[in-house]
Amino acid sequence: MRTQLCGEVNQELEGQAVVLCGWVHSRRDLGGLIFLGLRDRAGIVQVVVEPDSPAFADAEALRNEYCVKIAGQVRMRPESQWNEKMATGRIEVVADSVELLNPSAPLPLMMSDEDGEEIRLKYRYLDLRRPRMQENMRTRARLYRAIRDSLDGHGFTEFETPILTKATPEGARDYLLPSRVHAGHYFALPQSPQLFKQLLMMAGMDRYYQIARCFRDEDLRADRQPEFTQLDIEMSFVDEQGVQDLAEVMMRDVFQDTLGVELQDPFPRMSWHAALDRYGSDKPDLRIPMELVSVDQHVAHLEFKVFSGPANDNGSRVAALRVPGGADLSRKQIDGYAEYIARYGAKGLAWIKVNDAAAGIEGLQSPVAKFLDDAAWQGIAEATGAESGDILLFGAGEWLKVSNFMGHLLVRVGRDRDLAGDGWAPLWVNEFPMFEWDEESGRYMAMHHPFTAPVDADPQALMDNPGEALSKGYDMVLNGAEIGGGSVRIHKSEMQSAVFKLLGISDEEAEVKFGFLLEALQYGCPPHAGIAFGLDRIAALMSGEDSIRDVIAFPKTTTAQCLLTSAPSKIPDEQIAELHIKNADK
Ligand code: AMO
Ligand code: AMP
Repeated sequence: MRTQLCGEVNQELEGQAVVLCGWVHSRRDLGGLIFLGLRDRAGIVQVVVEPDSPAFADAEALRNEYCVKIAGQVRMRPESQWNEKMATGRIEVVADSVELLNPSAPLPLMMSDEDGEEIRLKYRYLDLRRPRMQENMRTRARLYRAIRDSLDGHGFTEFETPILTKATPEGARDYLLPSRVHAGHYFALPQSPQLFKQLLMMAGMDRYYQIARCFRDEDLRADRQPEFTQLDIEMSFVDEQGVQDLAEVMMRDVFQDTLGVELQDPFPRMSWHAALDRYGSDKPDLRIPMELVSVDQHVAHLEFKVFSGPANDNGSRVAALRVPGGADLSRKQIDGYAEYIARYGAKGLAWIKVNDAAAGIEGLQSPVAKFLDDAAWQGIAEATGAESGDILLFGAGEWLKVSNFMGHLLVRVGRDRDLAGDGWAPLWVNEFPMFEWDEESGRYMAMHHPFTAPVDADPQALMDNPGEALSKGYDMVLNGAEIGGGSVRIHKSEMQSAVFKLLGISDEEAEVKFGFLLEALQYGCPPHAGIAFGLDRIAALMSGEDSIRDVIAFPKTTTAQCLLTSAPSKIPDEQIAELHIKNADK
């Protein structure tokens, strides 16, 4: 139907006849002349319809998003009208004929960044026509191809594993499907292919990968969807270094191929504890040039209990965040930050504005200055490197809680003051605790998942001191987002049983849920390790989008609905009966 793509018409075609198909992106009627922006997957080209053209009447009837076929001649625009921002900006197509392929009903949205997300999701097929969304989808496809190229070159085999399967514990609720054939029995959609990829190592496949859809019924946010895509990787006969080396090489390949970006070599590494201590996060954004500083030793002697209490307690801390030039923050802004971190459990936000660093305590402006003495201030000033014009923000209390809310504050202030800048800051976080204590259920939970190996290979040592145990887990972090996580796996059944026990999973329950895995571990299971990357998150970072919904063709809302198809939806009673379940409405 066409000779060219709109976005590919250029000055080399000057004087030639072209036939283009696409949508009317814009239409300007300048009395005698009609200018159309004609858009297809490759871009937009300017079409001019002159008053004496046989196409003029047809062009007059066009409206935005009408689907058309236009034949014409390519000519240079006058130099004064060159638009260097457009690939086609030096030329235009003078129309000879305009054929309407299909008109459009009046549009339910503006088809711009101004549209609200609800309307965009309801009319996703229109929203996806926009150049920004077209580009996002293509970036994602380039990412997939780069991944396959890289991994195929490193001896990996691509697999598919079942979607109708048994529960895989990754910390979320399962999506369940009732079986029609087996009354009262359910499939679970996989939270990840974790168990199958381990079984493939036991099957001697050695290097596995899959671009795998995962399903998790959990609270959603900008960076979480109920179904999302992982690049899932597993390797035999490697330790954590082996997997991390491979993952780094692949990431560098993929960023080079997809964006032409050179990621640093090697990625820096940081323990989970150091990440929380210095950045208040297990996924620090290293582009933000600020760190938390512990000032406990300088405030332990003070009468001021808000500081001295935590400073003298082993499980607590007093953390300071120096914001360079931050003395310009208004009272209202500071109160806003205090409110923000209150959401993460902060009881208050102490602050000190350094108006004159040379004047000691006299040079400070702060509601807590009156509680300080010279020794305390000198210690704090030295530890934080505070200078005139800075503000120091303080969090005091339980170590993990303070680290966490001060970490949120660091990122928020960093964003508000635009401190991150451009660029790419990858990082490995490792040495995670094996377990975290869950107050609510009064038991240990796996920090990664129950198949992750502890650093100490002795099951008894783990049983004796589970709270202190570190795991062989690791996360890959990029610009403050957790883009991947993995671990060395347990490959001996005694250790796997010990971990199940510590997680409060009884032998019977372990047998019912994971009997097949425990059995498989007994037939010469190789040492193995792996990782899974969140491809939606990587695609969003690559496209500069804040939300993964903008890099998924048909995403769900934060309440796990598809506004386009109205899923989930009710089903007829007969179908319900066949599935041996009861309708909740009845
Ligand atoms: P994990 O649960 O850490 O590990 O998941 C791996 C990566 O997947 C991404 N991710 C998500 N992306 C979008 N929406 C979600 N709801 C969502 N949940 C997770 C994150 C995360 O880093 N089986 C293990 C991997 C392994 O051990 O090899 C696993 O699934 O980027
Ligand atoms: P208070 O003695 O509770 O009035 O607090 C005195 C100052 O310390 C106020 O500026 C509070 O915002 C601040 N503050 C109170 N609790 C904390 C805390 N846990 N961490 C940091 N600052 C706090």
